[in-house]
Amino acid sequence: MTIVRRGHRIQVLFSAEDIAKRNSQLAGDIAKRVGDGLLVVAVLKGSFVFAADLLRALYEAGLSPEVDFMSLASYGAGQVSSGQVAVLRDVEGDVRGRKIVLIDDILESGRTLAYAKDLLVARGASTVLSCVLLDKPGHRNADIEADFVGFTCPDMFVVGYGMDVAHAFRELPFVGVVESDSEKE
Ligand code: IMP
Ligand code: MG
Repeated sequence: MTIVRRGHRIQVLFSAEDIAKRNSQLAGDIAKRVGDGLLVVAVLKGSFVFAADLLRALYEAGLSPEVDFMSLASYGAGQVSSGQVAVLRDVEGDVRGRKIVLIDDILESGRTLAYAKDLLVARGASTVLSCVLLDKPGHRNADIEADFVGFTCPDMFVVGYGMDVAHAFRELPFVGVVESDSEKE
């Protein structure tokens, strides 16, 4: 299916319905493997929609997680990773002894997630697992795999469901690909 926004045709890769179904399964998996008493740390900005939905799916799975946020940047406004990770906003709480599930939108090179995980482990978290909506396995650069993966993503730049290209398209309720021959309105 294709929709038009901002004068661009966007091909739907993962629909809102597919994502909602997968979120319930992920929450079930997390409940089984991690149990209660967990601290969810959402890596902003890209994961904010996924984190909000997954959090409510965790509630449906019977858990009562706490939530904190970390804002990390590795991309700037472009599509090519700078290879550097910067902390733009840190978690507020003490993570010592906590069972943490990091939530991110996409695992690509792995630098963002590896950086966040190392930081939380260094601060004394007892367990740091990770849950990503999308795994792009082709470009791994850091030695990390996510513990929970929503979908394997084809090697394309995707937008929507919180993810952007140059700050656009975060509001789309699905994950899609902007078609390159789209015309400006
Ligand atoms: P990594 O550090 O290379 O694993 O980069 C992961 C981060 O890059 C994700 O959290 C996203 O913010 C961003 N990213 C990677 N691929 C895409 C994409 O296709 N669309 C939007 N953002 C992406
Ligand atoms: Mg991100």
